Amino acid sequence: MTTANVEAAPATTLFLFGAHGDLVKRLLMPALYNLSRDGLLDNGLHIVGVDHNEVSDAEFAGKLETFIHEQCRSKGDQALDARLWSKLAKRISYITGDFLDEATYATIAKKIKAHQTDNAVFYLATSPRFFSEVVQHLGAAGLLQEQPDGFRRVVVEKPFGSDLPTAEALNACLLKVMSEKQIYRIDHYLGKETVQNILVSRFSNGLFEAFWNNHYIDHVQITAAETVGVETRGSFYDSTGALCDMVPNHLFQLLAMIAMEPPAAFGADAVRGEKAKVIGAIRPWSKAQALKNSVRGQYTAGTIGGKQVPGYREEAKVDPQSQTETYVALKVMIDNWRWVGVPFYLRTGKRMSVRDTEIAICFKPAPYAQFRDTEVERLKPNYLKIQIQPNEGMWFDLQAKRPGQKLEMANVELGFAYKDYFQMQPSTGYETLIYDCLTGDQTLFQRADNIENGWRAVQPFLDAWREGGEVQPYAAGEDGPEAADALLTPDRRVWHSIG
Ligand code: BG6
Repeated sequence: MTTANVEAAPATTLFLFGAHGDLVKRLLMPALYNLSRDGLLDNGLHIVGVDHNEVSDAEFAGKLETFIHEQCRSKGDQALDARLWSKLAKRISYITGDFLDEATYATIAKKIKAHQTDNAVFYLATSPRFFSEVVQHLGAAGLLQEQPDGFRRVVVEKPFGSDLPTAEALNACLLKVMSEKQIYRIDHYLGKETVQNILVSRFSNGLFEAFWNNHYIDHVQITAAETVGVETRGSFYDSTGALCDMVPNHLFQLLAMIAMEPPAAFGADAVRGEKAKVIGAIRPWSKAQALKNSVRGQYTAGTIGGKQVPGYREEAKVDPQSQTETYVALKVMIDNWRWVGVPFYLRTGKRMSVRDTEIAICFKPAPYAQFRDTEVERLKPNYLKIQIQPNEGMWFDLQAKRPGQKLEMANVELGFAYKDYFQMQPSTGYETLIYDCLTGDQTLFQRADNIENGWRAVQPFLDAWREGGEVQPYAAGEDGPEAADALLTPDRRVWHSIG
């Protein structure tokens, strides 16, 4: 059975480079299992793990099964369906190989020949230092050559570069051995239903278009607050920081969804073209402006949900003197007709008080409070809150009269919660992205110009921070450093409270 009106993805050999990594265990295999549960994978889909560890096909499939089993149990999700898993497991195999060794690619070529399809997807779930090496080897082995009856696609995980020059160099390297239409640059935020819904809500409800501009919108706040720390990723995170980890990718994707112009169609080219334009319209700050318009924070020891947690510098594989930011708040301006004068405030951090990814759109207040001789002197602005996760939905803050003889206002909410309308099967967010890659739909993947425009907008912050500015401490469980509030004070605005 397939999901209503959705066809199974075509027979393909899917190679997972970095098969022993976390991404494969935690997200990709569970997503493939969910796709198979929903009848969205052809029986000719073969999954081939590629990594340097020596394990047999059966051991590899067995390890995945045990991990997914435990994950379902710990999350309280439905147990793995044994029959379904065993059907999928028959199509899982493994290649032991060094990513830098030609022999690995010869084995891959043989594997493709052994299957009844010439379609192949190479998923780079490896450390980013292997991205260019692997694609060059794939290219040299002729594995990226498409035949009329067989596609060849490469999925590149994030981080895509660590600044503008490295992102440009990686794009150049990929485009030397394949065409843009073969490249699927992943941003897992685009796999989230609530993120995809932003476009649908904006462009399918006439109501929104009327006030979606600088005449009515005062400013926009985009927040991605996490309660987790750096977990086991200390060494990656310490050389990356909150800005590069979250902003040019996830937060800019949210910004693009809110700020882009209506695309001429919902196809990949039109959507990605509009996104590239709006991200490209972010005003490039000078270094001095970048310093003034940004705040960096780093968590110290504190308490989250009643539990004592260590400070960032005490985390495993983190430099005890580290200056890396675990929190960042930024102000950016979009220089185009629709948004001129409307600040976009972005913030993201680890070890904050609650997990909350949301977009708060603050409308300009009504022009005049016609309530003479009452206590209502100033009207509060209305907010439209788009809650990406958790408690997915959209809420509109309104003012209403509190019942009684006295004229008093109360804040009330009009709301839509996903759980009240839709039954959603457990999903990782990767289901849509894998399915789209197998079926050749690039709409939810980043084009080279999207990525480079994102880095271009954050590069001034990276350059400015190399020369100045301090990382401000905040205790775990707090919503960032005090200096983040001060970022909005000159604009006479305050952060929308999270949670
Ligand atoms: C990843 C970052 O891309 O996104 C992580 O590397 C972060 O540091 C994660 O925790 C957040 O994703 P989500 O889906 O939990 O919001």
